[in-house]
Amino acid sequence: MAQDAIALLEADHQRVEGLFRDFRSAGGDAAARLHLAQIICMELTLHSMVEEELFYPALARATGDEQLVERARKEHQHLKELIARVPNADNLDGAVEAVCRNALVHIEAERRDIFPKAKACGMELATLGGRIQGRRAEVATNVQEA
Ligand SMILES: [Fe+2]
Ligand SMILES: [Fe+2]
Repeated sequence: MAQDAIALLEADHQRVEGLFRDFRSAGGDAAARLHLAQIICMELTLHSMVEEELFYPALARATGDEQLVERARKEHQHLKELIARVPNADNLDGAVEAVCRNALVHIEAERRDIFPKAKACGMELATLGGRIQGRRAEVATNVQEA
């Protein structure tokens, strides 16, 4: 059975929080840090994608609160700009730290403002969770084949 959408998105949040901690504690292991940086960027990109394609539009429809969703999209846009700087950053630590700090603020805003509204507005969270899982699986297959 599909998990509900909020449980899935929150599991992503906790996974990236764990990756940030791993990155910060990777010490002088440059290869490990680079690998973690790539995973962090990929996870955040995929997570933002399913929120933008599926979760935010459903939330906007269910709540009629376009402003809430618009603010979240703007935060994603800023995060994407920071993620785009990571691959060619002279200072990898600084670039990843900027991504972490920004993502953590956004994640907290979702926990505080967005998820409670989503739970309260009668959205079809189980159906949406199934669609999110399907979309993730589809993208993961494309990445493997590329
Ligand atoms: Fe988000
Ligand atoms: Fe999120």
